[in-house]
Amino acid sequence: MNPFNYVSIAQGDNFYDRKEETKHIVSTLSGGNNVVMFAPRRYGKTSLVFKVMQELEKQGIDCVYIDLMTIYSLESFAEIYLNALYKKQTATDKFIQILSSLKNIRPKITFDETGKPQFGIDFVEPKVSASTLFDIFDLPERMAQQKRLVVVMDEFQEIGKFHAYGIEAMLRSKIQQQHHANYLFLGSKTHIIQEMFMAKNRPFYNSAITIQISTLPTQETCDFLTEKYKQSGITISHEMCMRIIEKVDNVPYYIQLLAAEIWQHLMPDRHEVTSDVIDECFMRVVNLKSDYYFERFDRLSHLQKRLLKAIVENGVNIYSAQYINKYRLVSASSIQKAAATLLDEGLIDKTENTYSVTDPFFKTYLQQH
Ligand SMILES: Nc1ncnc2c1ncn2[C@@H]1O[C@H](COP(=O)(O)OP(=O)(O)O)[C@@H](O)[C@H]1O
Ligand SMILES: [Mg+2]
Repeated sequence: MNPFNYVSIAQGDNFYDRKEETKHIVSTLSGGNNVVMFAPRRYGKTSLVFKVMQELEKQGIDCVYIDLMTIYSLESFAEIYLNALYKKQTATDKFIQILSSLKNIRPKITFDETGKPQFGIDFVEPKVSASTLFDIFDLPERMAQQKRLVVVMDEFQEIGKFHAYGIEAMLRSKIQQQHHANYLFLGSKTHIIQEMFMAKNRPFYNSAITIQISTLPTQETCDFLTEKYKQSGITISHEMCMRIIEKVDNVPYYIQLLAAEIWQHLMPDRHEVTSDVIDECFMRVVNLKSDYYFERFDRLSHLQKRLLKAIVENGVNIYSAQYINKYRLVSASSIQKAAATLLDEGLIDKTENTYSVTDPFFKTYLQQH
């Protein structure tokens, strides 16, 4: 089996480094503070948070994880959230009792074929109302009276898709009153998350300790790659490890993807990772994805295409007059709009003042077309 995994989160001996981050996040949360952690997609936030939850659970703190990316309506949000809380209950009867006392929610327990109880809820109202949401946001604190609780909300910027009732302000006001439950917010659209937690006029301003996650340290990555290849009888030099890392701009997900491709390519007869092998495998991924990249690019507007191409070359100071002139990009305001769409679609990322193409294979595709 391929020792490199990029399909699901990194766990067990596929997870390396992040010791400092884990310690810092665990101690901040167990010390009673909330945390917001952000980094571009595919940097390893969810993997890290599963590690954090493991550590917290070891300390006797219950963790509830919900991924806002998979939630499509307030009703589904309520249902998934309540279900996650329910699963953490040791005193199920009491939880059901609390839920039953809420005005607009009816918990229901059904039994599956094996006789296992299944939790569900019925909403009394056709649409989840503000007061129901308030009740739901109260629950973690009520539960945490018995046992400390940490609520993790992954892809938290997606809360923006629920415009109803000013949900951001509601959640903030509830969290502020809670002393036993703590919250860990994760976000991958870094510009949106930063705005949410660092702009003075936003409800979540200053409500959590900020932790920005960067890429993994190269030495640890080299050690990891060397060890994993070694287990399959494949050798790789430090220089070749660095070549892999550089090829994919050090993004954790793409390191695993390229490493997996190389492993696949070498097995079972070849035993050394060379620069030719790395380059060939890199281009193989680009070619495999080129139909998809073509379509992705084709769907963009004229200006978005030009901006994306420009960012491939240089992503610094993209609003300057010089930049606009050089790449014939009309005006700063039109660039702003185009950049917002590209950010929103996850095609580019922004760190400080620099924009970059997220997917290194797509970047190479764009350079060649
Ligand atoms: N600490 C780590 N050790 C090894 N691989 C990692 C690590 N963090 C991330 N990865 C790689 O990156 C991929 C994406 O990680 P994930 O946690 O889903 O990122 P995110 O939530 O930031 O999008 C994982 O499947 C794995 O291949
Ligand atoms: Mg994630």
